[in-house]
Amino acid sequence: MARLAGETGKVIGIDVSDQLISQAREKYQGVANLSFTVADIRTYQPDHLFDLVASARTLQWLADPFSALRQMSSLLRDGGWLSVLDYNHENPLGPCSSRQHAVFTGHSCSGGLMPVC
Ligand SMILES: C[S@@+](CC[C@H](N)C(=O)[O-])C[C@H]1O[C@@H](n2cnc3c(N)ncnc32)[C@H](O)[C@@H]1O
Repeated sequence: MARLAGETGKVIGIDVSDQLISQAREKYQGVANLSFTVADIRTYQPDHLFDLVASARTLQWLADPFSALRQMSSLLRDGGWLSVLDYNHENPLGPCSSRQHAVFTGHSCSGGLMPVC
């Protein structure tokens, strides 16, 4: 995603887990336009809005995913995009969700995922 954002774009990765954020910082150190923050998406209050808010494989862990979706939407500038990738074990992986998964995770996936919205 940092590559796709280009030199003038900035990407911030958040997760509620200290450990996951530490691993991400280590894995992606040196990527100039990418930073990571430990934060809970349900209460995250950045001081700016985003062109794109992307959630990958997280909503399924939340007791109230609709509230989290509303919170994510509130972080978007006018005309911004919300992208959600989560598991769906009943449908095969289509080419669109396969590409989306590869962008988010850096590797391809053979099945079990589809965009929620
Ligand atoms: C299956 S992992 C996916 C991690 C990463 N998004 C990815 O696609 O590789 C689910 C992640 O959701 C995070 N998570 C759960 N509840 C959260 C919340 N309220 N706010 C932010 N992250 C949360 C967990 O800490 C966990 O790292």
